[in-house]
Formats: sequence, C-alpha cells, structure tokens
Amino acid sequence: MSDVKVIAVAGKGGVGKTSLAAVMVKLLAENFPDKKILAIDADPAVGLSTALGIEVQTTIDDIRKEVVSTAEDGDTKSALELLGEARYRIFDALVEQDGFSFIAVGRPEAAGCYCKINTYLKEVIGILSNNFDYVVIDGEAGIEQINRRVMEKVTHLLLVTDSSKKGTQVIQTINQVAKELVMYEKVGAIANRLPSKEIVELLDTGDIPILTGIPSDGALAEFDLKGENVFYLPDDAPIVLGAKEALKKIGILS
Ligand SMILES: Nc1ncnc2c1ncn2[C@@H]1O[C@H](COP(=O)(O)OP(=O)(O)O)[C@@H](O)[C@H]1O
Ligand SMILES: [Mg+2]
Repeated sequence: MSDVKVIAVAGKGGVGKTSLAAVMVKLLAENFPDKKILAIDADPAVGLSTALGIEVQTTIDDIRKEVVSTAEDGDTKSALELLGEARYRIFDALVEQDGFSFIAVGRPEAAGCYCKINTYLKEVIGILSNNFDYVVIDGEAGIEQINRRVMEKVTHLLLVTDSSKKGTQVIQTINQVAKELVMYEKVGAIANRLPSKEIVELLDTGDIPILTGIPSDGALAEFDLKGENVFYLPDDAPIVLGAKEALKKIGILS
C-alpha cells in the first residue's frame, strides 16, 4: 500500500463541502508543486468542477455505461473486473489542470439510488489513488457513500458542519459509521459559515475535534455572486485561512 493521502470532505448539504474541497486542492497544488494531486467530484449533484473552473468531458458514469455496453457479459461481471479491463479509459477521463488532475463521478440520469455508480466510484478511487500523492474527494451530502464503503480508503476525513444542530448531528452520525467502515488515520470537524467565530465554542461535535471555525466569508459570497471560481480567492479570505488551518491540524500541511 502506498502512502497516498486521501482527504475526503463529508457533511450535510449546503455546509461548504465543495467550496472547502476546492480551496484545499488549491492549497495542495500551491504547497506541493512536485506532488501528484487529484481532485474527485464524487457528488452526483456536481459542483467541484464548477468551483475549480473545469469543463468536464467524460465522467466515471460515462465510462461505466461504455464498459457495461461493450462487455458481452457486462451485467454479470463485477465493477472491478469491468474497470480493470477499461483501466486506460479512466486515465483518459482525467482532466489535467495546472498543478492537479480532476475527475468527476457524473450524474446518472436514472432516478433514485446511486448505488451502481458508487460501486464504480469506489473502485476508481482504489485504482487512481496508487498513482497520486494527494487525493481530495468532494463527497455527496449525507451518509450514503460512507455506508456503501465508497470512502473506505480515505485516510483523512474532514467533517464539515455549519452551526445548526442538524449539521453537527449529521457529522456525528457519519463519524459513528466511519469508525467501522473507513480506514481513516485522522478525523476532524470544520465548523463553517459561522455567524460569529465565538459560536464555535458552543457547538457539540461529540468526540470529533474541531479543527477550525470559519466565519461567514464575504469574499466567497462576492465570488459566488459573480460566478467566479474559488481558485482565485485571496489568500486572506476566511475560508482559505480556515482550510489551511484544518489541513495543518490534521497533519497534511506543515
Ligand atoms: N464560509 C462561508 N461564507 C459564506 N458563504 C459560504 C461559506 N461557505 C460556503 N458558502 C456558500 O454556501 C453555499 C454552499 O456551499 P457549498 O460549498 O456548495 O456546500 P456543499 O458542497 O456542502 O453543498 C455556496 O453558495 C457557498 O459559496
Ligand atoms: Mg457540494
């Protein structure tokens, strides 16, 4: 097993997972110009590509459809068998950016359960991780991908919450399940979009250490308004400072 660091962000919807994942990719690219960095948009609702200013051509779901339809026994073979044969296709789907690579899970059009694509996603994470030094995964909201062991190989689990009870409950639930289903080395909470920084003292995150508290970020709101990508946020924007602090506390940045 290589010593790749697989960082995943999880938490309920709308708490800032995608924004934080994008900022972390930027920080890793800046701090480790000689390392291979991969950003994975694992949320079928899509967002990380936009946040990073990337136009996605081929998704993991596209590859899945391709291999299922071209393999004679496409329905009976396992995801790993099919993907093993189509390994080069996965590498073809990587988008090369300045300082990092990117891949998106895609948005299966069939409504309901994403379990099929999640199985592929899990294999893709396994296959690709060995070729990178740092992997940042922007997860789907909620607990599904933890439950389905998609995040099994994650080494650093970052649980994002806002100051709501719901937000802190969701990350505690995720952590309970992750303790059994994710082989993580480190876990920590990021309290984001706080009405005031002091409120972080009042948050109940159970046994998850809070790595940083990030206030509502005016620069990010402005970027949002203009549709600019977070890559160009100034270094002193609260979310950039917060992401940096979290990565330091969890031992990724020094
Ligand atoms: N600290 C913050 N201050 C202000 N706005 C924020 C902050 N964090 C996130 N946002 C905004 O909240 C919205 C949801 O963030 P996003 O990163 O898409 O969350 P998620 O991926 O968890 O659904 C976005 O419009 C984002 O710009
Ligand atoms: Mg998101």
